[in-house]
Amino acid sequence: MRPTVDIHLPADHAARGLAADVRAGLTASPKSLPPKWFYDARGSELFDAITRLPEYYPTRAEAAILRERAAEIAEASGAHTLVELGSGSSEKTRLLLDALRDGGLLKRIVALDVSESALREATAALGEEYPLAQVHGVVGDFTEHLSLVPGEPPRMVAFLGGTIGNLLPEERAKFLGSLRGTLMPGEWLLMGTDLVKDEETLVRAYDDAAGVTAEFNRNVLHVINRELGADFDVEAFEHVAVWDAEREWIEMRLRARSAQRVSVPALGLAVEFAEGEEMRTEVSAKFRRDGVTEELTAAGFTVHRWWTDPENRFALSLARA
Ligand code: AVJ
Repeated sequence: MRPTVDIHLPADHAARGLAADVRAGLTASPKSLPPKWFYDARGSELFDAITRLPEYYPTRAEAAILRERAAEIAEASGAHTLVELGSGSSEKTRLLLDALRDGGLLKRIVALDVSESALREATAALGEEYPLAQVHGVVGDFTEHLSLVPGEPPRMVAFLGGTIGNLLPEERAKFLGSLRGTLMPGEWLLMGTDLVKDEETLVRAYDDAAGVTAEFNRNVLHVINRELGADFDVEAFEHVAVWDAEREWIEMRLRARSAQRVSVPALGLAVEFAEGEEMRTEVSAKFRRDGVTEELTAAGFTVHRWWTDPENRFALSLARA
């Protein structure tokens, strides 16, 4: 069978979404920007570099769990379709796909990602590596475009990397509920969650010595400059990563080194930053087993299995719809 790769594209989704998010975020007080706009081609490269940093443990910890458990996950799920929320370009996806293929289960691969460039590259590679599977790419936002995901049951949705932690608690409840709603009873969610641990380890993972995360954080300003004609002086913003012990999340912010005025012509907007003003660019929530179980259960899932890496840094949950 020839590999088939097709791309489902909601019309000018990205352009409209960015404009709306930037307008809302820069006119709010305090200012904020949603993390999904980090990932243009450069941002995706920088994130890739982050996953190889000595301080950034989540990728390696999750991969360790998958190396140990992929065959068990494939067997427990019996899934014929793997739906990956994310581009599906990672080694971790391969571990799952290899296990499904080797178990004689794999028929279809669906990747959903906001980045069309990342998706085109990833789906082309998957089509070559898994020639017996049908490969689909969906350009979209996992909080909005789940209904575009093709494939017949039983499917397994893989939401890896701890990206669920980018959502605020209410957003997670809404997302998990709607994901549960698009799945048939008996289908599966495999979800990665970073775990609460000591503050030093957490902060270092988001403020590395080489400054790659700082570059990644500031990249969102390059994206806004390019896409909306804004004139952010990118180097005038400093990377900040703080642990919020109350809410158990890492917050990334950009701090204005001096007072400045930024104009965003595409939005007819001029924005003032005070010296030292901080704008939130990402929340990365960390979890405990009880909390994950509670949230999945509240959304209508049944937690079937829970695995951690040997150092208890990261967890994978397999939950049944
Ligand atoms: C891709 C959302 C899982 O929150 O750890 C890495 C993104 N931000 N370093 C995370 C990120 C800063 C990452 N996720």
